[in-house]
Amino acid sequence: MSDGPTEPAVVLAALERCLATADRPVPLHEPRFAGKEWDYVKECLDTGWVSSAGSFVDAFETMVAGLTGARHAVAVVNGTAGLHLALIGAGVDPGDEVLVPTLTFVATANAVRHAGGVPHLCDVERARLGIDPVRLEEHLSEVAERDDDGATRNRSTGARIRALVPMHALGHPADLDGLAALAERWGLALIEDAAQALGSTAGGRHVGHRGLAGVLSFNGNKIITTGGGGAILSNDDAFVERVRHIGTTARVAHRWELEHDAVGWNSRLPNLNAALGCAQLEVLDERLAAKRELTARYTDAFVDVDGASILQEPAGARSNYWLNAIVLDEPDRAVRDALLEVTNDAGIVTRPLWTPMHRLPMFADAPRMTDLTTAERLVDAVVSIPSSAHL
Ligand SMILES: Cc1ncc(COP(=O)(O)O)c(C=O)c1O
Repeated sequence: MSDGPTEPAVVLAALERCLATADRPVPLHEPRFAGKEWDYVKECLDTGWVSSAGSFVDAFETMVAGLTGARHAVAVVNGTAGLHLALIGAGVDPGDEVLVPTLTFVATANAVRHAGGVPHLCDVERARLGIDPVRLEEHLSEVAERDDDGATRNRSTGARIRALVPMHALGHPADLDGLAALAERWGLALIEDAAQALGSTAGGRHVGHRGLAGVLSFNGNKIITTGGGGAILSNDDAFVERVRHIGTTARVAHRWELEHDAVGWNSRLPNLNAALGCAQLEVLDERLAAKRELTARYTDAFVDVDGASILQEPAGARSNYWLNAIVLDEPDRAVRDALLEVTNDAGIVTRPLWTPMHRLPMFADAPRMTDLTTAERLVDAVVSIPSSAHL
């Protein structure tokens, strides 16, 4: 980091040095299948076990639980479905408010709406990109109160505030110590949106099961992929039983009767996708190591770039560096857009962060913290850069 304006040509040159041997265009994040994927998928086709049960689903769940340290992992069709099920399983009822970051991929807020809830938008921290627990505490003290029965209510709407859903942006863990303590104080279910954070740890522990639950995504752009897919992590046996049940059409176990005791969903991950996932997980450690090397290379290359640096993992946490990112010292939409322009023109795919939820039409009326400027400034300061592990 140094002072002075950021020159797009200088940034491009730094990226070109790091990506000299990569074919153009260089995608932001590419899936790669160089392990046992063909063998495992062939086994599904040969045996006919292609749908939502099978040995690869069981093996995948065991592997995900093992490597995250969660007691349970429930494989689901995608991360959005996982968040939806987790919110329902946490008892989010129609009209309940759920605290989410305004700076997130839209699926976090969509899942709240799918569950009948109302996203309540929170600002984030500059360094970690996740919900700011100190400012959220101040906000809740102003707008909320706890009933005699322990429920937290929004004083102006009367709605119950039921859950807190932080998101680990780009793989960098949010402040889980602060957020877990806040959730405890206010009686909120803590559900981590860990869609981008497979392999990330905070305080030495894998993210995603600090509170009631967490959700991973295995979309094609993630660190490992099942094509589409996700997993709910939890250490709570009763919660896991509930989400498995409602995610499997709420079918009551019986040898032949098709009996259901609730309105459920069909959210289980097919065996075919789980087969891909098993092969991908076998190379996760290599991938995490390669990504750290890439981050080190980018970091070195940006030492001499004025006014910009490479985003680093927060203190006390280890990021999977899912997406590396350039951060401008001074947020500036025009400079950010100039960077996007020159890099994409040169065949190096770069992207801005997500449009904050409070700027999207469907969440325009959502309750929120009054000051969301840290998120706004980050959007004007951050550009994601190519981050596939094989780079
Ligand atoms: C933060 C975040 N939440 C949720 C999701 C939804 O996951 P999926 O695409 O698997 O539905 C994604 C990503 O793709 C994400 O990045």
